[in-house]
Amino acid sequence: MTVLVGDCRTVMPTHAPFDMIFADPPYGDTSLGWDRRVEGWLAVARQSLAPSGSLWLFGSLRSFLAIAAELRTAGLRYAQEIVWEKQNGSAFHADRFKRVHELIVQFYRSDARWDGIYNDVQTTSDAVARSVRRKMRPSHTGQIERGYYVSEDGGPRLMRSVIFARNCHGRAIHPTEKPLGLIEILIRTSCPPGGLIGDWFAGSGAAGEAARATGRRYLGCEIDAAMAERANARIVATLPLGGVPAAPDPNPGDAR
Ligand SMILES: C[S@@+](CC[C@H](N)C(=O)[O-])C[C@H]1O[C@@H](n2cnc3c(N)ncnc32)[C@H](O)[C@@H]1O
Repeated sequence: MTVLVGDCRTVMPTHAPFDMIFADPPYGDTSLGWDRRVEGWLAVARQSLAPSGSLWLFGSLRSFLAIAAELRTAGLRYAQEIVWEKQNGSAFHADRFKRVHELIVQFYRSDARWDGIYNDVQTTSDAVARSVRRKMRPSHTGQIERGYYVSEDGGPRLMRSVIFARNCHGRAIHPTEKPLGLIEILIRTSCPPGGLIGDWFAGSGAAGEAARATGRRYLGCEIDAAMAERANARIVATLPLGGVPAAPDPNPGDAR
């Protein structure tokens, strides 16, 4: 449970394979000094994924379009996306909509099959009672068998792909810190309990706190040493699943 200091392209592969890669890199959408796109990390991340693993990548549509070819060349296949809706956002352009969302897209190894990827489908407990006759679907929407689907009031319902979570504005230790509730949903979906999460652009270590709270192992990487130190302090202070505080890791270079 630690954040290593360095460049993820060289630091992280030596700790592979990861059951889940959590990646929140600079998008490269602006001319701001810290917003420089990192070249070449996708292929390295793909090589570092366990066969049943997947990678969740934060970005804007602009940033995904910029790396579309690189994703394919790296051997990563699209699985699905989530829209994270925030209470406020950025207004870089006075003549466009105020941007209050981010995309989070899941990819998996293109040599793997989706049914072999760890995927614990998330539900919410707000279904309304209904009974649905499910028809056979045409093949272009995937083969779904005929049958009945019955739900009860307050029972489980598939979680929606648009997720509202307040951003950390005003209490963050990193300018683009992501909210714990959102990260925990991704972790529960895509990393088995006890599995290893690689957080390639760790920033504040928010994913480390979420990993600890959900009982997963975690290794982060952050190029800014001062930020990595703050992230590590935050993770150590988090109570793990079960509530027993951890002793500081005596050998932080060997998180597996
Ligand atoms: C968008 S922020 C991540 C924020 C983080 N998810 C959080 O919730 O706090 C991106 C981070 O990646 C770091 N970074 C940039 N290039 C990197 C590299 N090559 N290897 C590791 N970290 C890098 C930056 O210093 C920055 O802190």
